[in-house]
Amino acid sequence: MCGVFGYVTNRDEALGPILVEAARRLTYRGYDSVGAATFRDGAIDLRKDVGKVDAVAERHGLREMRGSRGIAQLRWATFGEPSQVNAQPHLDSSGRMCGAHNGNVVNNVELMAEFAAEGMTVRSQNDGESCVHAVERYVRRGEAPIDAIRHAYDDLEGDYAFVIGQAADDRLYAFKKGSGLVVGIGDGFTCVSSDLPSILPLTRRVVRLRDGEIVTLWADRVEVRSVADGSLVDRPVEQVTESMDAAQKGGYPHFMAKEIHEQPQVARELLHLLDASADLAPMLERLRDARNLYFIACGTSYHAAMLGSVYLAQLAGRVAIPVLAPQFIAQYAPAVGPGDVGVFVSQSGETKDVLNALEAAERRGMASFGLANVVGSALTRATSLCLPLGCGFEISVPATKTFTNQVIAFLYLAYRLAGRDTAALARVPELMEATIESVAGQVEALAAALADRDDLYCLGYGATYPIALEGALKLKEVTYAHCEGMLSTEFKHGPLSAVSAGYPIIFAAGPDDVPLIISGINEVKVRGARTITIAQEDARLRANGDDLVVLPSADPQVSALLAVIPLQLLAYHISVRRGFDPDFPRNLSKTLTVD
Ligand code: AGP
Repeated sequence: MCGVFGYVTNRDEALGPILVEAARRLTYRGYDSVGAATFRDGAIDLRKDVGKVDAVAERHGLREMRGSRGIAQLRWATFGEPSQVNAQPHLDSSGRMCGAHNGNVVNNVELMAEFAAEGMTVRSQNDGESCVHAVERYVRRGEAPIDAIRHAYDDLEGDYAFVIGQAADDRLYAFKKGSGLVVGIGDGFTCVSSDLPSILPLTRRVVRLRDGEIVTLWADRVEVRSVADGSLVDRPVEQVTESMDAAQKGGYPHFMAKEIHEQPQVARELLHLLDASADLAPMLERLRDARNLYFIACGTSYHAAMLGSVYLAQLAGRVAIPVLAPQFIAQYAPAVGPGDVGVFVSQSGETKDVLNALEAAERRGMASFGLANVVGSALTRATSLCLPLGCGFEISVPATKTFTNQVIAFLYLAYRLAGRDTAALARVPELMEATIESVAGQVEALAAALADRDDLYCLGYGATYPIALEGALKLKEVTYAHCEGMLSTEFKHGPLSAVSAGYPIIFAAGPDDVPLIISGINEVKVRGARTITIAQEDARLRANGDDLVVLPSADPQVSALLAVIPLQLLAYHISVRRGFDPDFPRNLSKTLTVD
């Protein structure tokens, strides 16, 4: 996710403690490297490394840094492994300009080649460095910094925010394109940050930037301009009243709620990242030619793998076997060999069960690829090709945004294998936004009605079968109730005997499966069950079931993905109603590095 912070005064100050504290207050966003730069007497002091804030501060004396302007950055690796050279901030070729960003520049690889060809000194693989050279390119052509930055903005594709300064100057510049950026105005200083927590201890007077805006920060004032034509933007200063805790959670009471609401944004960013991934084409080629194809994962990531397998079969006519990682070792590993391909799916990239399966697969000569959120994790290091999930740090133990981005990555792969235009997927984030908005109130009311139930079922069919399993896992994980996920047609083969008056059964229904789901609804309703159906608007479902949670119109594959959102929200609200902390459910840990 990364975090960037900039600070401007007009005195020579001990900036180190301010920069280190600002970095510490952004650590909740997740990071692997830390860096700081100060501007002092026309020179730039740059110190950075891989590691935790306190360790890097100690190792490199960050707290001793002085100057009148400073930049601090926390890096969450996407472009380039976590390393000192890839850590941010970055210098331009001459060492006279320095900058850092937060987010992803998706045409980074192409830009770096252009910068090198234009004679600039490229030191890392990191896209933050691309931002610096993109400005340098226009400064070299004689443009004023503000114009150079405006033109760089057009060259840098993706979602990011960027802070940059020149050694021989008295100001910093920052601009916003897709990622968050807030300006703070204090007494004798100004600052800018990816997020409020690093600003609030300094000042509560803020200016919120919008995409396509550049801010120039002097010690005593700020000036916002439009990137498009350089015109001045009149943006009022706000007084923030949020607490620090609320600010870290983006105003939501829990990280789980924040991360559910972040899903459309990270989905949008993922689509850009996949379009730009250098690993995508070679991976597609191997998936196309694979003798047998396996999607291997645990928990929520396994449910994404299951849905990925449905997508590949339905859209691309390609069979992929989804399998839980430990079962892969026991069942398939003895039979695999060269020619077979495994895609290992993991949010953390550190799940021991998944890494064990990867080791077993490699011993048999199987090609192993990754789909992981944490770049630099064991999984990304051990696989030759790996696609990012681009979700940033997921703090809440229950996986939400990483699940939906895993599913979107599989949908993207299925589209590519089917020869379909992935531009059509650009609608998915909007549909996710519409779903969150339209179901929120109803799901909260349902949570109130179901909060005291200790047994539930969650049923799906086809593409919604993995969604039913995932919904049941979320409900179990954060409400501590027993909730079983199942193929809807299996219910009559045994579990039907459990149904009694008021027994809650949730159906996730695809648009093509309505008649089948109606049979399922009636089977349980005549035995007293209360049914809740998550589906697109359909008079037949309204007539046959109890509650209908309506999803926006979409094709069956996207509709299945949307159906998980009300289930995530239901689990969250029931958990809160029961008095639990959904972010840290008892007995569970975010990353399972044990057998
Ligand atoms: C999901 O909410 C759980 N936290 C859990 O099932 C998780 O998905 C599983 O442990 C796998 O983790 P990974 O994606 O980091 O490999």
